Amino acid sequence: MTFGQTEAESQPVAQLSINISSNKNMSSKAKLIPSTSDSLAQAGERLRAGDLVSFPTETVYGLGCHALDPVAVKKVFQAKERPLTDPLIVHVNNVESALHLWDASSSSSSSSSNKNENENENIQKKTLKALVDRFWPGPLTIVAKASPKVPSIIMANTGFVACRSPSHPIARALIDKSEVPIAAPSANKFGHVSPTKASHVFDDLGMEDVWIVDPSLNDDDAVVDETQTDVIVCDVGVESTVAKVEFVNDSDGIITVLRHGAISSQDIKKCLQDAGLDGQLKIQSKQQATGDNVNHVAPGQTIRHYSPNVQSYMVSHERCIGKKSLSEEEMSIVKNAVIIDFGGRLEFLKENALAYRDLSTNGHSDVAASKVFDTLRWSESIDGAQRVYFPELNIGANDDDALVLAVKDRLTRAASGVVVSTLI
Ligand code: TXA
Ligand code: MG
Repeated sequence: MTFGQTEAESQPVAQLSINISSNKNMSSKAKLIPSTSDSLAQAGERLRAGDLVSFPTETVYGLGCHALDPVAVKKVFQAKERPLTDPLIVHVNNVESALHLWDASSSSSSSSSNKNENENENIQKKTLKALVDRFWPGPLTIVAKASPKVPSIIMANTGFVACRSPSHPIARALIDKSEVPIAAPSANKFGHVSPTKASHVFDDLGMEDVWIVDPSLNDDDAVVDETQTDVIVCDVGVESTVAKVEFVNDSDGIITVLRHGAISSQDIKKCLQDAGLDGQLKIQSKQQATGDNVNHVAPGQTIRHYSPNVQSYMVSHERCIGKKSLSEEEMSIVKNAVIIDFGGRLEFLKENALAYRDLSTNGHSDVAASKVFDTLRWSESIDGAQRVYFPELNIGANDDDALVLAVKDRLTRAASGVVVSTLI
């Protein structure tokens, strides 16, 4: 996509329409706006009025709306083409706002005595508080029982609401200016690769009525640093860890890690130990798409997510460490394939491939995480690409490098869980 940024930069925010001649699509509705105070104030007003604003966080770009306005929330589902069965995360700037949305005082058992209810309330509140104190602001989303005032559309009628306090200054400034909690899923079309740049959002949502905060448009008065126009966004690069806090009876809680992100189960466990709560809480991880349990699932089945629009496969760990030579048939396939490598595992395909990138030649998971979504989108832009291959990462679910698990999870989903040992 071409943006014509110079043209946009010289315009005031209200005229930043991306309906420019260099853009193929003359009917785009989306607007790019800088992240100056004035611009974010206008974006905040827009959110309060029930319209959509896409903004960067430290993880990925979100597609924001007024979380307590069900009509606005519906617009997000429509713009993303996301099923109403998939709930949204509410973004807040402090624990007080989250406690208004969570119903930390309610018990799941209606027959509890008052004493037990109070104990339960204490444990729930202590648990939420311990997690928030340790990990907020930052990439941890906490799902807990919702207060009755939370619109059910955000929670997909589950009665549990997800809250997160982002650390990125632009996201925080926008929440402040809007003066409302902001519900925001990742700002991609449902099932597509998550966005880490304003251009990614524009590519997916350019036809929607959305403002997109793009700090590269800043000339002065930038929110993060008034002298800096090149503001770093989405530096973590993968979405937040999602942890659900649930009490099955009056005193026993379960924390389920529903999605891998930068904060690991071990980090959560340690936090609860430090708070003296580990005796009352069990921590478990939801079965992830780790490769072992999803091998040979046909493309397009349930775990499909983050998918580039080119057929994608993981090359088995055995092949990565085993046979390096290619059959003639493999050679002809690799010729039209894009390789997204990690730590040089697929280097043996490099010289025959149509295009090749390594997320981190040294195998650094933080670097790989920060690049994974941009690289998946890059693979879609390669002319003539018929296949994308990634290495299968042979990493156990108990590995405590949170980001390597997160990268493995995203690549596994991008390949719909399909692992091949012969390049097909
Ligand atoms: O880093 C992030 O979390 C980004 C940025 C924008 O904050 N947001 C994001 O949102 O990734 P989304 O909607 O793409 O992913 C949210 C995940 C989904 O897997 C959703 O099912 C889960 O969180 N989730 C949200 N609310 C939930 C709830 N009430 N119960 C269980 N899972 C929930
Ligand atoms: Mg998403």
